[in-house]
Amino acid sequence: MADTLAIFGGTPAVDVSKVVNWPPIDEIDEKMVLDALHQPNQARGVHNMALEKEFCQWNGNDYALFTNSGTAALHMCLVGCGVGAGDHVLVTAYTWSSSATCILHHDAIPIFVDIDPETFLMDPDKIEAAITPRTKAIIVVQLHGLCNDMDKINAIAKKHNLKVIEDACQAHGAMYKGRKAGTLGDCAAFSFNQNKCLCCGEGGMFVTNNEEIYKGAAKLWSFGEVARPEENRDYHAYALGWMYRNNEITAAYARAQLSKYDFYFNTLRENGEYLLKNLAGTPYLLLPYEPEWATHNWYNFNLRIDFAKLGISEPAAQEKFRDAVAACLRDEGLRASVWQRFILPDMTVFKAKNAYGGGYPWSIPGADEGVDYSLEKFPNALEYSRKHISVVQTLRAPNGLDIAEQAVQGIKKVFNSLDTLDPDKVFEVLEARKNK
Ligand SMILES: Cc1ncc(COP(=O)(O)O)c(C=O)c1O
Repeated sequence: MADTLAIFGGTPAVDVSKVVNWPPIDEIDEKMVLDALHQPNQARGVHNMALEKEFCQWNGNDYALFTNSGTAALHMCLVGCGVGAGDHVLVTAYTWSSSATCILHHDAIPIFVDIDPETFLMDPDKIEAAITPRTKAIIVVQLHGLCNDMDKINAIAKKHNLKVIEDACQAHGAMYKGRKAGTLGDCAAFSFNQNKCLCCGEGGMFVTNNEEIYKGAAKLWSFGEVARPEENRDYHAYALGWMYRNNEITAAYARAQLSKYDFYFNTLRENGEYLLKNLAGTPYLLLPYEPEWATHNWYNFNLRIDFAKLGISEPAAQEKFRDAVAACLRDEGLRASVWQRFILPDMTVFKAKNAYGGGYPWSIPGADEGVDYSLEKFPNALEYSRKHISVVQTLRAPNGLDIAEQAVQGIKKVFNSLDTLDPDKVFEVLEARKNK
């Protein structure tokens, strides 16, 4: 039964009883959270302030604000950079929805740019063609924990007088030419949600080295006020503000996790490199690539199916086959998933061009000029969305090379069988399970 796929009754390659769930919790987390519970101020107190300081020190930023999500931090970036109603903001066509809905939150309009087929990131060579007279900023998503070619992007931004915002929500510790994500543009947003390499349940961090951007973002963060809650407040809304702050218990948990981050990062790097080396040459498998400029954090280790070699060309057939392969990997004990099956221009909120009713913000006079979300403009993003499978969490600390080796065996076992795999048979098994 060794080579029979687990989905058809074989033995799973990964011993899931040995895989530690993410995030690992120890006495450091327990002690910190308990301390926060006993603080007199559970809204914004010592842990919030300490977390911001520690994050700045760890990442190399001058200013940070702890938020209740990465999406909130992204919205703060836009406001800090002075983006306003009817402005255009460039963003990759393949990412998490809120990398672009954050633009709508300030009545600005996303302009999508297709991805590079090898990095899966916004293709820097397609940026200039997407710039319009209304473009104010570029959101560079350091997707899956891989930094884009920032020298190239910053040079284009400088030439066209655009701000550069990093969506570093997945990129804690990832580097570009030895410099950390979150220090590579004008400002950046991190997410600390459950799946992230640095996690505190839900949360995020806004960071910048620019005082003006910080001041603008800070107003949005806390009711439009100029003073921070720990300062002498006049409770006056100087600008449109939201309530994007976080609390002490979550901050304490984030501090505990940050204190262990270097171990998490190094473990994930080692596991990612192990997979890259040991999966090379696996049939029908396209591996991710780490460009010479980048230090990946392997937030997401992406497998792609080589459909050209398999001879499957029809998009619906590719998707069905990919979903069957992901199911096989899961039964081998891997945390495999399809991270994002829709490209953004294919999502209803953008297709309908209606966010706030009345067609806003696209109905702002003149704002929709040159805005075209036709799917044909994004062939690389579309192709990628059909053929990738993400392996997350299995490779996270404290799971080490023993688990990484089992993951390699599971992936090889599934990909070695692709030329005979019948997706209908896989779905029959899944259906039968549902009906049990
Ligand atoms: C690339 C990217 N951007 C933005 C976000 C939003 O972060 P959050 O869920 O903390 O709002 C996420 C994660 O969910 C993400 O992966």
